[in-house]
Amino acid sequence: MHDFLLYNIGQLILPAASEKPLKGKEMNNLRVLKNAAMAVMDGCVSWTGSTEEAEGHLAKIKRNAKGRLVTPGLVDPHTHLVFGGSRENEMALKQAGIPYLEILAGGGGILSTVEATRQTSLKELVRKASFHLERMISHGVTSLEVKSGYGLDRETELKQLTAVKRLQDQYPVRMAATFLGPHAIPPSHKGMELEFLEGMILLLEEIKQQNLAQFADIFCETGVFSIAQSRHFLKKAQEKGFGIKIHADEIDPLGGAELAVSLGAVSADHLVAATEEGIKRLSESDTVAVLLPGTTFYLGKDMYAKARVMIDSGAAVALATDFNPGSSVTENLQLIMSLAALKLKMTAEEIWNAVTVNAAHAIGMGDEAGTLENGCRADFVVWDAPNYHYVPYHFGVNHAESVYSAGIKRWERGKYGTIQLP
Ligand code: NIG
Ligand code: FE
Repeated sequence: MHDFLLYNIGQLILPAASEKPLKGKEMNNLRVLKNAAMAVMDGCVSWTGSTEEAEGHLAKIKRNAKGRLVTPGLVDPHTHLVFGGSRENEMALKQAGIPYLEILAGGGGILSTVEATRQTSLKELVRKASFHLERMISHGVTSLEVKSGYGLDRETELKQLTAVKRLQDQYPVRMAATFLGPHAIPPSHKGMELEFLEGMILLLEEIKQQNLAQFADIFCETGVFSIAQSRHFLKKAQEKGFGIKIHADEIDPLGGAELAVSLGAVSADHLVAATEEGIKRLSESDTVAVLLPGTTFYLGKDMYAKARVMIDSGAAVALATDFNPGSSVTENLQLIMSLAALKLKMTAEEIWNAVTVNAAHAIGMGDEAGTLENGCRADFVVWDAPNYHYVPYHFGVNHAESVYSAGIKRWERGKYGTIQLP
């Protein structure tokens, strides 16, 4: 006897749990069961098959999906969920054509969020992040990564990571925490980058002892941290047992992709300016290229990451919102899926793999999240969509009808959404 049985699923998407991220052509393989059914027991997937076969299965609760699409819960592998304040004042600066790095160099951008985050209490940070997290869940996210990096000092970095811990305790989502202490150089350390970096390296020890983060990350960019500084920090993090990630080649082609591969990073993120050599190195590795087209869109740029070249040359690609108060102000991973279709020219199959199985690998959850294999935690989304092509196609709205984690419905859309599928 199952606890729950969902039948009459129009399409059930079953990305296979795999030991490694899907690379190149593999990203085009998506297992789709039509007219399907899925059962849950003790919070885990206990059976999948056809609606016809489901008649032979007993369950305490049965639900008719009425032809809807069902997929694994989405995985958002790059977010800056915890921060103080907001930066709507930067919209006019953007419109005036002032570049992102110039706003930062002038003490705005990341640094203004640092100021606000330092002044926000732990309790308020958790409350604020909850608001955004609930919006993410409502858009189908059941696993995500969250970075610190708006403290740039011991106290505030620890406060941000403690906020992540509180959220982990309060919400039924899987959450990976990343220490991004070297996210910018605080005004107090202008001209003393190495000293600042050493301070962040010291902090790694404390974070490890308190088990506050699994990953370490650095913003490797012109005017922020160089390749040599990034290598130094990431190596130290690795020695202390952190998985490593890197904000790489976002604006200038510094060679962040090459560095990520040479260190065996779990992911290299952004990569808009990655060089041909960097892409080649990625394709020869299992480092996941986490692409963030929402950021390119929001910064008003024309040049997007070369996802086609990456996938065609054999790299593993994942997609994320990069949700943050400055360069990508959206919790909606579905919107990113549309941008991936339109701007990155990714196929629907590649996109679904990029927000499920590959996104899970990018945050060290490849064996548990982004899949609905038998025995896996039953994190899934019932979509107001008849097929998987429909979600990236119809952009800018929330298609989630209901969101389940561990087999329990955590969110459903309001009562006015009862019209039959188009
Ligand atoms: O991933 N690029 C660096 N960090 C963030 C932006 C943070 C911010 O602007 O507040 C990013 O885009
Ligand atoms: Fe980021």
